[in-house]
Amino acid sequence: MELNELRSEIDAVDSQIIAQLSKRASLVSAAGRLKKNEQGVRDPKRVEQIIEKVRAQAIKAGLAPELAEEVYRTIIGCFVRMELKAFDMAVTEGRMKGSAMNQSEFEISTDKKRLDFGVIHDFLSTRSYWANGISREVLKKSIGNAMCFGVYHQGKQVGFARVITDNATTAYIGDVFILESYRGRGLGKLLVKTIVGHPELQDLRLWLLGTKDAHGLYEKVGFKRTADTHAADRFMMLFDPDAYTRKTSH
Ligand SMILES: CC(C)(COP(=O)(O)OP(=O)(O)OC[C@H]1O[C@@H](n2cnc3c(N)ncnc32)[C@H](O)[C@@H]1OP(=O)(O)O)[C@@H](O)C(=O)NCCC(=O)NCCS
Repeated sequence: MELNELRSEIDAVDSQIIAQLSKRASLVSAAGRLKKNEQGVRDPKRVEQIIEKVRAQAIKAGLAPELAEEVYRTIIGCFVRMELKAFDMAVTEGRMKGSAMNQSEFEISTDKKRLDFGVIHDFLSTRSYWANGISREVLKKSIGNAMCFGVYHQGKQVGFARVITDNATTAYIGDVFILESYRGRGLGKLLVKTIVGHPELQDLRLWLLGTKDAHGLYEKVGFKRTADTHAADRFMMLFDPDAYTRKTSH
């Protein structure tokens, strides 16, 4: 067969593969919307079952099983990311539509232009236990250099969080709050879930945060206390709890 003929056969096979991938994508999205939690989406046991089947089918079809496995691990990785997005949208829509408190009026946005600096500074500088006394200048800089998540009720800011990250390996979550009168209706959980599900923050090696008493909130999305991990001894910190107040007094 001539090279041109071979190439047009390859093109034809590619178009079949794309059609099948598109079908797989719709099925995976639908499955993502039905899953109860993020572990269900990631499901490493299911991944290994698929790989085992794919290897067996490859052998039957005369394809190297290693090649089939490599291709499939890549495909599954891409599809899991897609499924996570579908799952997150389902969670967000469900939470926002499903509550008697008319939560469709709530939204979470990473658009910094929408942030109400006054609300954030007022809460953090006077009512948080960690950033008391933080100056407007330090807060402004910290917002400017971080990814920010605002929670809005009918357009008015009622919650906030920052993520300090390189978008590839590591992320630190800080300054998380929901205004007092909006607490206890799931917004904190939705905020944390939205953060760890954000498409730009997938496949990181390390997520970090510090909390005095809200461990349970973060455990819901998979965080563990460092003492309960095998890496507890690796982490060190240089912590200056008075940094904000010392700076404002100059
Ligand atoms: C912590 C905070 C953001 C939670 O927001 P929220 O909208 O009230 O929380 P939700 O309604 O989504 O529920 C939080 C869940 O985490 C759990 N939780 C664990 N520790 C908690 C804590 N210290 N405070 C609030 N909830 C806590 C709750 O029990 C709840 O789980 P449940 O629904 O299974 O009972 C909010 O209370 C707040 O702003 N607190 C003051 C600032 C703060 O402490 N920020 C966190 C710093 S790490």
